[in-house]
Amino acid sequence: MSQRIENVLQEDRRFPPSEEFRAAARVGSEEEYRRLHQRSVEDPEGFWAEVARELPWIQPFETVLDWSEAPRARWFPDGKLNASAVCLDQHADGERAGKIAIHWEGEPGDTRSFTYRELRDEVARFANVLKARGIGKGDRVAIYMPMIPELAMAVLACARIGAIHSVVFGGFSAQALRDRIEDGDCCAVICADGGWRRGKVLPLKPEVDAACEGIASVHTVLTVRRTENEVGWTEGRDVWLHEALEGVTADCPPEPMGAEDTLFLLYTSGSTGKPKGIMHTTGGYMVGAYLSTRMVFDLREDDVYWCTADVGWITGHSYIVYGPLANGATQVMYEGAPNAPAEDRFWDLCERYGVTVFYTAPTAIRAFMKWGDEHVEKHDLSKLRLLGTVGEPINPEAWTWYRRVVGGDRCPIVDTWWQTETGGIMITPLPGCTDTKPGSATRPFFGVDAAILDEEGNELGANEGGFLAIRKPWPSMLRGIWGDEQRFKDTYWSKWTDGWTYFPGDGARRDEDGFYWILGRVDDVINVSGHRLSTMEIESSLVAHDAVVEAAVVGRPDDLTGEAIVAFVTTGGGVEPGDALRQGLLEHVATEIGKLARPAEIRFTDVLPKTRSGKIMRRLLRDIAAGRESSQDMSTIEDAGVLERLRKGE
Ligand code: WT7
Repeated sequence: MSQRIENVLQEDRRFPPSEEFRAAARVGSEEEYRRLHQRSVEDPEGFWAEVARELPWIQPFETVLDWSEAPRARWFPDGKLNASAVCLDQHADGERAGKIAIHWEGEPGDTRSFTYRELRDEVARFANVLKARGIGKGDRVAIYMPMIPELAMAVLACARIGAIHSVVFGGFSAQALRDRIEDGDCCAVICADGGWRRGKVLPLKPEVDAACEGIASVHTVLTVRRTENEVGWTEGRDVWLHEALEGVTADCPPEPMGAEDTLFLLYTSGSTGKPKGIMHTTGGYMVGAYLSTRMVFDLREDDVYWCTADVGWITGHSYIVYGPLANGATQVMYEGAPNAPAEDRFWDLCERYGVTVFYTAPTAIRAFMKWGDEHVEKHDLSKLRLLGTVGEPINPEAWTWYRRVVGGDRCPIVDTWWQTETGGIMITPLPGCTDTKPGSATRPFFGVDAAILDEEGNELGANEGGFLAIRKPWPSMLRGIWGDEQRFKDTYWSKWTDGWTYFPGDGARRDEDGFYWILGRVDDVINVSGHRLSTMEIESSLVAHDAVVEAAVVGRPDDLTGEAIVAFVTTGGGVEPGDALRQGLLEHVATEIGKLARPAEIRFTDVLPKTRSGKIMRRLLRDIAAGRESSQDMSTIEDAGVLERLRKGE
């Protein structure tokens, strides 16, 4: 992207928090935000050391930050702690022992609740099962599960013994799971027989069996019984959790971990075909998750918090497992779909559990809008006091609907910008002091030194679109890409020449009030329903199909999912393009990556538009997919007739 990003959105409405909200908030005035933010960027070490000392350390840190090997930061490097002890033991052995940590509800309506003490004991027993299978500190464990309590327990059990968890979203295919198991050289997989989704059993164990076939490193597949479907069994390798737990005690002291020991890997898409195993460490990540949850969600002792994400994504890691539990919060966790059995399921849950803080994604909000206000209005949502959104830019229409219909015009909305790589929220309103503007993630969180830069690294002025940049290290930042240090440097730290300014891959502008407006990805990544998908990865999968010679995948705007996947495909090998092939390709992509990567549209073409040097002209394809006139310079196109043919094919 060589020129500056066009900005078309004009939005002047402002929504200040109510006096009532402001008065009770953790940060309740503009002056306080400014003072704290200024302190956090002028003296980051002083600021973060104070925050970090609020966590229970096994061995206190003396050094706060070592940035001498930038861009690899080391936060609190001489301290020791355990993430599961931060989330569980400090509460289970204290005043919150009998407080509910998780109210869980399955899609069929079954429920389970855990107090902090119960959850700690369950996790400790789970951890003892892992230990008995010879799993220990530094080992990688893949987790592939539905949204059941055992998912959170599996994550925390790994953390308890110092094993590195690698959660793979349950909607990914066997092939995608296999790639991640292999990349992380995992020794075990924790899964379930299946999960409930829209009234049906979604089997998971067969996917795991296919994923693990022939992988020698996997010595254990630990399976939770949830849906009771028939499953295949490999003697010696496969273990039922409920059987393994028999007679196991809850005596499992948390392993003292160095703050810089890896806590987890989480794979995310980038502009090449291979997913990146983003590495997060223990101390900095926990400090970031703890503070951001507390401040952004203005968390109080009696809140009932619900984040609707899946633990398979970073949102679930930071804002279901680690952040809320580190703060001793009570939360709701739900297994299934938002429209099962009916479109009011979420609001029914909010009413019955008395949810006060609700965090979801724009794509869900747009679906609720489409389903109709009546589903929301049927329920008493008067306990709600704060709403959040994350995953992609939210259009002002959806924002105002969310505020009016769900929030009863009374709840502030926090539009939180961040990424798998940042570990925690980076740009966000603080609900008690920020005058929000629909569609803007507003201002940098504490410790975040953000800027809008051009290609050369010059800071741009108000309302000029450019590249979002972060100019200082922060505790929950990624520490690397598993097994690929060069890619870590190339992807995030090489946009500008200094070598230590972080490039998240998003375009943005900052308005005259210093508010940030995220304009979306600038790399070959499309955001479908808040999930980052690499166009390259989908292309490679398509090209791997026998009938496909060449494929180009682009995103086009979509009212519901934000962006939708459009694939331009040239065929060969005597296969006729048509509906049969289209269907075959959709299934092929679902098997290779997962249903979430299936194109919304496949267009067959005899050639793809290319420059004289042979590069596919993606910007042109984006225009065609969106049905726009192209502003692209056509002088470099190799065969001008292609364009005509592609358009006609519409
Ligand atoms: C990308 C990160 C962070 C958890 C979920 C996604 C986009 C995220 C916002 C927002 C505009 C957003 C960005 C970012 N994004 N939140 N509030 N406004 N865009 O995590 O899969 O790592 O994706 O999602 O493009 O780079 P992820």
